[in-house]
Amino acid sequence: MNSLIKNGRIITAVDDYSADILIDDGIVTMIGKTLEIDADKTYDAQDCLVIPGGIDPHTHMELPFGGTSASDTFETGTRAAAFGGTTTIIDFAVQSKGQALAAAVDTWHQKAEGRTSIDYGFHIICTDLPDERLPEMKQMIREGISSFKLFMAYPGVFLVDDGTIYNAMTTAAEAGGLICMHAENGIVINAIIKRALAEGKTAPKYHALTRPTKAEAEGVHRAIAIAEMAHSPVYIVHLSCDDALREVTAARDAGIPAYAETCPQYLFLDYSVYEQPGFEGAKYVMTPPIREKFNQDKLWRGLQFNDLQVISTDHCPFCFKEQKELGLNDFTKIPNGGPGVEHRMGLVYNGGVATGRITLNRWVEITSTNAARIFGLFPRKGTIAVGSDADIVLFDPNAEMTISAKTHHMNVDYSCYEGMKIKGVTRTVLSRGRAVIENGQYVGKPGMGQFLKRGLFNSPR
Ligand code: URP
Ligand code: ZN
Ligand code: ZN
Repeated sequence: MNSLIKNGRIITAVDDYSADILIDDGIVTMIGKTLEIDADKTYDAQDCLVIPGGIDPHTHMELPFGGTSASDTFETGTRAAAFGGTTTIIDFAVQSKGQALAAAVDTWHQKAEGRTSIDYGFHIICTDLPDERLPEMKQMIREGISSFKLFMAYPGVFLVDDGTIYNAMTTAAEAGGLICMHAENGIVINAIIKRALAEGKTAPKYHALTRPTKAEAEGVHRAIAIAEMAHSPVYIVHLSCDDALREVTAARDAGIPAYAETCPQYLFLDYSVYEQPGFEGAKYVMTPPIREKFNQDKLWRGLQFNDLQVISTDHCPFCFKEQKELGLNDFTKIPNGGPGVEHRMGLVYNGGVATGRITLNRWVEITSTNAARIFGLFPRKGTIAVGSDADIVLFDPNAEMTISAKTHHMNVDYSCYEGMKIKGVTRTVLSRGRAVIENGQYVGKPGMGQFLKRGLFNSPR
């Protein structure tokens, strides 16, 4: 089976040119000015940007959290991702206390296998790493799971102590793996929460007011310091604010291999979402919380100057009805997380490229290429080149859409961006050469996605 993409403007992290693309058995085999080939299937990319499929390296399909589970399954979540131009996700398998890392991964394989419309990999959230378990990290790296998330937050649930972080970083670095850090001082945050609850402060906005930006900045500072001692790179996940960004910037200016991602919610939403009437603010209870508006420009600057390398979503949806409502009388019982996997590419195009904040190349780099580099998928993913997987998106930069829970494809009953009009719409999506979305319609099949054995960490630049 071969296919041809004609008349497109190809954008990668480094190129911008017009050419046709030939795909054979899922791989790009030829790129040329005008390819006159009688292919089994031809896509006309006239007026579209032809970009590498988006890579979202931070999703939580079906994550058990706070007595419930994230509402998107691997089936619904990966279909929604494809609608928005994402062709790879890296989801987080969770190690229960005392569990072998391989067992955690097996559980996630069972959730995902045969159900996804796009390719997927796993990181492991490690909650319990005594010395005797450290060799398991190296085994996982050999099996293509080359990154691990550790938490400085959520004492008693996910939090691991600094010694464990040091051991994990040392072990991962020795084997070419990477530690992803949820950097917030959870011990201080819990003390602040205790005082707030004692004062009767139970509304959703107190989720934000009990998680100061300094708690995130302190976590980032400590994570980077421990990484330095461990001679290890470190990747800060879901960085939300200027205080935390300044820690990353200072480290990078000093030549330390510190990397960080931010997410659309921190670029497009601000604290006022929590001041809405009633229980509405619960929709935005995610961690870190949405910050004061001035942080948005700082994060964009971080993306422009490469202090931030990646935009992920931290997609972790819980329905407003019944799930978020678990915390009606106590914000600490609201499951933490929000939906986002579907609209990342469009939001960042609209808010980044259409406004002139970033170039088309940088858009591709921060939504696809850098994640591929950092998480051991490049050049198989994250670019359009001969030999790469034909994960390709035809993106119409002039079409417009309005984001709404009425029309989105995520399995969740609200949108964080309800009513937002954006310019730039995903038209057609190929995953290893097979159409998942064609002219805005789902034409894929659950199970067409494959598990990705990832390679080792690579510095993005
Ligand atoms: O609120 C969030 N972010 N939920 C998902 C878990 C995490 O910390 O990434
Ligand atoms: Zn986290
Ligand atoms: Zn997360």
